[in-house]
Amino acid sequence: MKVLVVGGGGREHALVWKLAQSAVVRKIYAAPGNAGMFRKAELVNIAPDRVKDLAEFALRQKIDLTVVGPELPLTLGIVDAFQKRRLRIFGPTQAASEIEASKAFAKRFMQAHHIPTASFMVFEDPNRARTFLRSAAYPLVIKADGLAAGKGAVICEAKDEAMQTIDRMMVAQEFGQAGSRVVIEKYLEGEEVTVMAFTDGKRVVPMVSSQDHKAIFDGGEGPNTGGMGAYAPTRFVDSRLMQQITEEILEQTVAGLSQEGRSFKGILYAGLMITRQGPKVIEFNCRFGDPETQVVLPLLEGDLVEIFLSIIEGELELADVRWRDGAAACVVLASEGYPGPYEKGRRI
Ligand code: AMP
Ligand code: GLY
Repeated sequence: MKVLVVGGGGREHALVWKLAQSAVVRKIYAAPGNAGMFRKAELVNIAPDRVKDLAEFALRQKIDLTVVGPELPLTLGIVDAFQKRRLRIFGPTQAASEIEASKAFAKRFMQAHHIPTASFMVFEDPNRARTFLRSAAYPLVIKADGLAAGKGAVICEAKDEAMQTIDRMMVAQEFGQAGSRVVIEKYLEGEEVTVMAFTDGKRVVPMVSSQDHKAIFDGGEGPNTGGMGAYAPTRFVDSRLMQQITEEILEQTVAGLSQEGRSFKGILYAGLMITRQGPKVIEFNCRFGDPETQVVLPLLEGDLVEIFLSIIEGELELADVRWRDGAAACVVLASEGYPGPYEKGRRI
């Protein structure tokens, strides 16, 4: 089998590493991939958002299975485009990816389907947002509606900071179009964990829990990043809590998306706050987490290609998903300056 992995980060390296262990995989391509994977994958110089070029490549090379890492191509409809050309691809459709692409959509969806999350308001007019913020309780969280590479959420301790955040997101458009609509939500206290799940649109099989380190420096200091490291499993999620998360959050979400005609096949990522009132959803992603995937996949027993194929066929119950004992940890090395402006392509 020939496999194409779309993306070029540590997450995609972990995917390539795990896929390469499958008995049925003969050749792996990665677009664009990265220098770390050159022994296991042939690198193809196509950016993940060039959906049409990727589809043409897959047709030309007779790729049997395409696996998508990042959110951008999913939200651009790469799965729909491949399916139209009768190419086999693993991931959710554009309609299902809306759960990550729009925070306003995700919050309203959770409210409609009784999925526990922080209470919230959605604003499209900066003046209305300011009026609300004048008499709101603090701290609270302001989030750009659209994709912002993990940097679109600002925890505001007081009114001044909240007003400035509205100016930056909605008026100065620091996140571009992503900030023209904002979600303002209640600040949740607790321990933050990630639970990703395999789903075929009907059944849900959760992965071991994990936790990423969001701040740039040790001890939780400095600005938030896309994630500076991760470990799995966490001691915050025991088997009872995992069952509760599976039933009350993951299964509810998958069933709700199906009901709305947005059947979700792929990896559903739940970013959760374990509060005193139980687990609540901070965000959903429509894909594997980065860096969480680097610590979760090494704990997975069995064949990832078989799991992916069973999901595509809508037969997840046939897949063999088992977890090995033990733990995994990962540390991210980043170029100086990150998460601000930084130099790319430096020698390691
Ligand atoms: P998000 O972009 O929604 O994942 O938010 C980014 C980060 O901000 C999360 O990983 C949390 O650390 C923090 N955060 C977001 N929403 C909340 C909330 N309601 N309460 C507390 N922290 C939050
Ligand atoms: N580690 C956070 C994410 O993948 O969105």
